[in-house]
Amino acid sequence: MKNKIINNKIVVANWKMRLSLKESLILAKKMKNKFKNFKSGEVVICPNFLSLCHTKNIMENSSINLGSQNVFWEEKGSYTGEVSPGMLVEAGCEYAIIGHSERRKYILENYEMIHQKLKAVLNNGKLVPIVCIGENTEERKTDQRDFILTDQLYQALSGINIVGEQQIIIAYEPIWAIGSGITIEPAEAKYAHKIIKLTLNDIFGMQVVKDNFRIIYGGSINSRNVKGFVNIEDIDGLLVGGASLDEDEFYKVAKAILK
Ligand code: 13P
Repeated sequence: MKNKIINNKIVVANWKMRLSLKESLILAKKMKNKFKNFKSGEVVICPNFLSLCHTKNIMENSSINLGSQNVFWEEKGSYTGEVSPGMLVEAGCEYAIIGHSERRKYILENYEMIHQKLKAVLNNGKLVPIVCIGENTEERKTDQRDFILTDQLYQALSGINIVGEQQIIIAYEPIWAIGSGITIEPAEAKYAHKIIKLTLNDIFGMQVVKDNFRIIYGGSINSRNVKGFVNIEDIDGLLVGGASLDEDEFYKVAKAILK
């Protein structure tokens, strides 16, 4: 893992299962070209597993880093269809998204699994985990958001030992805002990030949180609404889905938050 500066803001593109191998490589080339003089913050692209190695080759001599959309909790063995932290590092990844709500919904991934995955990534030591949390529509409507966020954090992180400069990124992605075009009010995001920060402080203590954690926001971010999320305390970056599928749009988002 590169010795990153934790104060850097970060923008992560999650391409989900939206692009074929061919389409991923075309977009990767366009991204490389678009960001060639871009030096601020960190930019990460998470293509599908099939496209990782090819994307890594394309990103040679570029400041864009690579991340995976998922990871398994064992390093090797009879786990058909899974990919381990070490394999992702070998493919050139520096980041791994863990527990995205779409995996929680469609693959029934739960926070026990998310906890195992996080532990495996931290044991490997060469990947920065991006742990996703967030409430659904019903939980928001019934005023359970704060409890849900705290509970998810405790389930994912309790008993985790953070050593040295190991970084962890928490991605707050309210499920109701993902892919819906409904944007959260920046003030609501700010409040949720504060809850997350305070919970992390409770679990790890303020110094560890300051030195080792970043909290980023995701959910229907685009070039039109990103301005509301610039310079908000406790928002250290963005996790972008739909708007990361076009190099001009993603560049505008990255430029707004990273400059
Ligand atoms: P959208 O930006 O498309 O809402 O997706 C957000 C997301 O799920 C990123 O992981």
